[in-house]
Amino acid sequence: MIELAPSILSADFARLGEQVRAACEGGASLIHVDIMDGHFVPNLTIGPPVVKSLRKVTDLPLDSHLMIENPDEFIPVFADAGVNWISVHQEACRHLNRTLHLIKNHGCQAGVVINPATPVETLSEVLDIVDYVLVMSVNPGFGAQQFIPSTLHKMRQLADIRSQRGLQYRIEVDGGVALDTVSDVVRAGAEILVAGNAVFGKGDPKKNAEALLKAATEATLQKV
Ligand code: DX5
Ligand code: ZN
Repeated sequence: MIELAPSILSADFARLGEQVRAACEGGASLIHVDIMDGHFVPNLTIGPPVVKSLRKVTDLPLDSHLMIENPDEFIPVFADAGVNWISVHQEACRHLNRTLHLIKNHGCQAGVVINPATPVETLSEVLDIVDYVLVMSVNPGFGAQQFIPSTLHKMRQLADIRSQRGLQYRIEVDGGVALDTVSDVVRAGAEILVAGNAVFGKGDPKKNAEALLKAATEATLQKV
């Protein structure tokens, strides 16, 4: 099943509740929350207080994407603030197995993320313990960047490995997902689509979300 996870990074933070509600009405089933620390990525975003406020305006699961160093230090704090899904970067974790278990021990779905330059092979030892794998299709740090097509083969590879090994993880994609790229990512195997600029950049988030989901569903039908 295809799910849309609008990234609030491109939303109007002064009207966050209203914007999140509009995206939900458009069919979003998760809210993607980008957490950046100015070290792992060259940008700063939001922390636990904003997550707590978000928790009050939506019942949808909050999908937190930690682009931070030392994620172990912050996993308990974000779980307490109310996130439901937590993903950590393979590149930021010295003890990835331990970190993924820490996420699960806090009652959250555990995800692992790979940057465009990181191969799927680096995940071979954790694919059996993750709930989802997030393939970055831009270099993380900013919204509204251009989609990197060479990342598509990693979604296909993850779908193949999942069936070969009989695993259950879901495949998420993040970065540059818009009306012109959505069918490619769906055909490559992505099931959870993060979209920031394409939902909140301009126009009505509800209509934008609906249009993206419609294009994604049409691409599923074309899948062979
Ligand atoms: C990038 C973030 C993304 C970003 C996606 O570092 O992880 O979630 O908000 O934004 P768009 O859809 O605008 O590329
Ligand atoms: Zn993200």
